[in-house]
Amino acid sequence: MPTVASSALQVPQSRIRELADIAMKMEGVIRLFFGESNIPTPEYIKRAATKALEEGYTFYTENAGLPGLRQDLADYYRRIQDVELDPQSEIVVTGSGVQALNVGIRCILNPGDEALVLTPSWPNQSANVRMDNAVPVEIPLLLRGERYVVDFGGLEAALTPRTRLLIYTSPSNPLGWVATEDEQEGLLKFARRYGLWLIADEVYERLYYQGLGLGDPSPSILRKAGREDAVIVAQSFSKTYCMTGWRIGWLVARRDVAEKATQLNEFIISHAASFVQRAAQTALTQGEEELKRMLGRLKENRDFCLAALRKMPGVTVPSPDGAFYLFPKIEGVTDSFSFCRKLLEESRVGLAPGVAFGAGGEGSVRICYAAEGEILGEAMERLGRFLRESWGREDCR
Ligand SMILES: Cc1ncc(COP(=O)(O)O)c(C=O)c1O
Repeated sequence: MPTVASSALQVPQSRIRELADIAMKMEGVIRLFFGESNIPTPEYIKRAATKALEEGYTFYTENAGLPGLRQDLADYYRRIQDVELDPQSEIVVTGSGVQALNVGIRCILNPGDEALVLTPSWPNQSANVRMDNAVPVEIPLLLRGERYVVDFGGLEAALTPRTRLLIYTSPSNPLGWVATEDEQEGLLKFARRYGLWLIADEVYERLYYQGLGLGDPSPSILRKAGREDAVIVAQSFSKTYCMTGWRIGWLVARRDVAEKATQLNEFIISHAASFVQRAAQTALTQGEEELKRMLGRLKENRDFCLAALRKMPGVTVPSPDGAFYLFPKIEGVTDSFSFCRKLLEESRVGLAPGVAFGAGGEGSVRICYAAEGEILGEAMERLGRFLRESWGREDCR
């Protein structure tokens, strides 16, 4: 009897999805478990897609994406990060951020290789490593006072002759942690010293609250890496432009990997949808004002939820510098999935269990605060009541 491949079988089900599947069958749930804003895609982007369809962008494009879009991405990096990229050889448009990770990882890992993954992190990174018959080795960030820090000692200790890759996310999902310049420098030096590939997942680059002005990006690793460095950046239009359902992202990589990713994409998705690529060009070139408005709202949401959480019993929560998540640790929680399930059943609030995000995640829950103020107000009210009135009860634990 033929069986499913072991590389597929070893990929676990996402525990966020498992919780969401329960919640989807229930009425009146406030859904804060997924990583997306409930703001629809802005009209100017939708109009650009319609126009592109009318103009005939319904045919195949280059595997690396429309040359015009790659040029716009290179211009964007010059403008936003002060980084020079060659649009012909260092940028590949992909069918989403997760597809950028997928093809990037596929280009550099051999079966049996090990990838160090800074956690808690979005589970799709480790899952993608597993799909290539390779092994993710999770190294948790350490909470020091109000801030998470990279455990360089832990990274050193985890090295083996099979270690080939280090993946980190900044700004982080689920922590909202943003790597400092020193940490980025340290990660790059570490990768150079041990001959590793470094993948930076920067899909939340623009959701950053600590810049001099709202809209300033979090610093990209590309500011530090040279052209010849073994560095790959995975990127997406999903979060910055509220385009989760459109499925478009990109990859920046050293020339050899960009070339290979382009070629492999022929056999995976060939390319991102043509008219979506045109809409993405409009997002890149006209999106700044709308983005700033959204950031203003997200910052308010973050501050509101942070203040509410800090008043709740047994909750500790560091202030995040980016993305749109809070990751509070809740005293007494040793099984975050069952905590989230109880909260869902009793209070109809859907959060993502910390255990879904790998080592260092258990004991916490992830709250996505990219929802309207009233919804968040109601969610905080229900969560606070649950913690005060239900969570301590014998039958609830
Ligand atoms: C850290 C991280 N990387 C990548 C992605 C993928 O984004 P998409 O595939 O929608 O472009 C997500 C989405 O939640 C994410 O949180």
